[in-house]
Amino acid sequence: MQRERLLKVLVIGDLGVGKTSLIKRYVHRVFSQHYRATIGVDFALKMLSWDQKTVVRLQLWDIAGQERYGNMTRVYYREAVGALVVFDMTRLSTFQAVLKWKEDLDSKEVHHLQVALSNGTPVPAVLLANKCDQRSHGLCPKLPKLENFSRQCGFVGWYETSAKDDTNIDAAVTCLVESIMAAE
Ligand code: GTP
Ligand code: MG
Repeated sequence: MQRERLLKVLVIGDLGVGKTSLIKRYVHRVFSQHYRATIGVDFALKMLSWDQKTVVRLQLWDIAGQERYGNMTRVYYREAVGALVVFDMTRLSTFQAVLKWKEDLDSKEVHHLQVALSNGTPVPAVLLANKCDQRSHGLCPKLPKLENFSRQCGFVGWYETSAKDDTNIDAAVTCLVESIMAAE
């Protein structure tokens, strides 16, 4: 008998870092250069044959970057079991905002809106340094070593990704789902 697991995963990060593009690439295998800001929240669903016994229904919550200043995130974050926190490698301000997004995520758990992980540990989060196809105009020399940074901030892993070139998106999601499944 196969069991089915529904996992609510948040995709968060500043405006224009590529959250919608990563999801579109991952779920629909397409990419567009055209930028249309997400309003509020969008959803996407991806089915994964996780192992012989388990099918994972991955529900991706694509939260608008501009929502960080709104008051809806506490509602959106509810019952999430994991998060992808995205920044744009070519824009330092989006990297600096990573900490704020992560703190936001963790603080919402402290307020017990997070009910899915009953043992009280923070939900697993993976850090995505997106637009790595633009590495040549990127910040790489200016960024602190992401390995140390991500460990200090409590991320379970980090990846350089590109929605344009389809780099490392599957790996990042797999890392997150592994960590969610291990936490149960
Ligand atoms: P909000 O919805 O406003 O929060 O933005 P978002 O994070 O969803 O960003 P979105 O996916 O809409 O992408 C913003 C812009 O960056 C678009 O013009 C995309 O084409 C572009 N973009 C996204 N990912 C990549 C990438 O990996 N490489 C390159 N070169 N451009 C990208
Ligand atoms: Mg978007």
